[in-house]
Amino acid sequence: MENRLRIKTILMEKPLGRELCVQGWLKSKRDSKGLSFLDLTDGSTLAGLQVIAPESLPNYATEITRLSTGCSVSARGTLVASPAKGQEVELQSSEITVYGWAPPETYPLQKKRHSFEFLRSIAHLRARTNSLGAVARVRSRLSWAIHLFFQQRGFFQVHTPIITTSDCEGAGEMFAVTALDLEKIPRAGGGAVDYSQDFFGRPASLTVSGQLEAEAYALALGNVYTFGPTFRAENSNTSRHLAEFWMLEPEMAFCDLEGDMNLAEELLKFLISDCLENRAEDMDLFSRFVDKDLLKRLDNVLRHDFVRISYSEAIRQLEKSGRSFTFPIAWGVDLQSEHERYLAETLFGRPVIVTDYPETIKPFYMRLNDDGKTVAAMDILFPGIGEIIGGSQREERLEQLLARMEAAHIPLENYQWYLDLRRYGTVPHAGFGLGFERIIQFVTGMGNIRDVIAFPRTPGSAILA
Ligand code: 4AD
Ligand code: MG
Repeated sequence: MENRLRIKTILMEKPLGRELCVQGWLKSKRDSKGLSFLDLTDGSTLAGLQVIAPESLPNYATEITRLSTGCSVSARGTLVASPAKGQEVELQSSEITVYGWAPPETYPLQKKRHSFEFLRSIAHLRARTNSLGAVARVRSRLSWAIHLFFQQRGFFQVHTPIITTSDCEGAGEMFAVTALDLEKIPRAGGGAVDYSQDFFGRPASLTVSGQLEAEAYALALGNVYTFGPTFRAENSNTSRHLAEFWMLEPEMAFCDLEGDMNLAEELLKFLISDCLENRAEDMDLFSRFVDKDLLKRLDNVLRHDFVRISYSEAIRQLEKSGRSFTFPIAWGVDLQSEHERYLAETLFGRPVIVTDYPETIKPFYMRLNDDGKTVAAMDILFPGIGEIIGGSQREERLEQLLARMEAAHIPLENYQWYLDLRRYGTVPHAGFGLGFERIIQFVTGMGNIRDVIAFPRTPGSAILA
C-alpha cells in the first residue's frame, strides 16, 4: 500500500499536507455534527492518530457510524494541523475501508480502564490496551538493549539447548521431556521406568538454566551470553515466579566475583537508562497510571552505587534489626523474601548485592572460598522486587568441584562433559542470571509478573495460546 506510514512516524515527522494511508484499530469514536472523530492506533506507539471522517464519505452512513472500539480500518487522507487541543496533527480522510468489526456487545475491551486481573483472562487481546501494549514495547526494547550491551562489549551470544539432561541448579524442579506413552510406560527390572526406550535413551528435561552450557562456550570464546526461555516446575504461586520465564546469563572466562558484580551493576543501570531514553512515552504512562514513584525509584538506582555486603554481615544486620521475622534468622539459613525486603527497602533503600553465602545453601558449581564454609556467590536484591540476579564465580578446580558434587549427590555420569572443562584448560570464570521478567517489572512498576510476559505459565494455569 503506497504512502502507508506507521503512526509513530507520522507523529514524529508530521508530514503536513501529504496524502497518506494509515491502518490500525479504533480506540474510540466520537460523532459530531457532519463528521466523526476516530482515535486510531496501530501499536507502533502509545499515542493514537485522530482521523476525521466527514459525512461525505460514501460509506459514512452504512459503516462509519457503526464503527466501535476494536474495529480495524484503513484510512487514506491528508495530514493537516489540528485546530483543536489534544493533538498537533490529524488525518482528514477521503476514504475509509473497514477490515474487521468488533461488535461492542461481545468485544471484551471497551474504552475504560480494565483491571489487570480481568485482562489476564483475555491474554490474546490485552496487548491492545494502552498499558499492556506499553509493557510489550518496553519488553522488546529491553531485550534489544541486552543484546546491545553485550555485543558492544565483545560478548558472543550462544544458543544453549532447551532440552537437557543436566539439572543446573540441582533443585530437582524440572519438567520431564518424554516421548513415552504415559498410558503404557515401559518398566525395567524392579519397576523403574525403562528410559532406554525413551526418545533420548535416558531421562531428559526442559532446562532450568543455560549456565553449564554457557560455561563450555566461555571457556572457548572468552565472554558469552545466553538469553532464552527457562523452565521451573516449582510450585510458587507468587507475583514474582513463573514456570516459564526468560533468563539472561552472561559467562566470562578469566573473571572473578568482583568482575561479575561490576558487570551486573553496569548492565542493570544500562537497561534502566536505555528504557528511560528510548521508551519515554511508555515510561510516562507507567509513572502516571501504574506507579507514581516509578521515575524516582529508577533514578535512585541510577544515581547510587549498589550496596555490597557479605551474607554474614547481612545476617548480623538482620539480627540487629529487632524485627521478628516469620522465618527466624541464624547464620546458615537461606534469605527469605521478608529478609531481602528488609535489606533492600528498609535498611539501605537501594539495590544490595549480598555475597559469600554458606556453601550448604548454594548450588554445586559455586567456588568454595578459602574459609571452607562459604562460596563466591552473589545475589542482587532490588527494592520492591527482591532477588533480580543470582550469580557466582564458578569452581574451576577439579578436586573441589568433585567434592561439592559428591556432597550434593549429583550423578557424576551425567556431568563428565562439565568436569572435562576442569580437566582441560580450566580457568577462573564467573557469570550470573538475570530474571528478564523481574527487570521488566522493576522498570515498568508492574506488580504482577504475569503481566509482563505475553502468555504466562504458572502452576495450574497454561490455558491460553
Ligand atoms: O538464582 P537462579 O536460580 O540462578 C541460576 O539459574 C544460575 N544458573 C544463573 C547463573 O549464574 N548463570 O536464577 C537467576 C534469576 C533469579 O535471580 C531470578 O531473577 C530469576 O532468575 N528467576 C525467576 N524468574 C521468574 N520466575 C521464576 N520461577 C524464577 N526463578 C528464577
Ligand atoms: Mg537465586
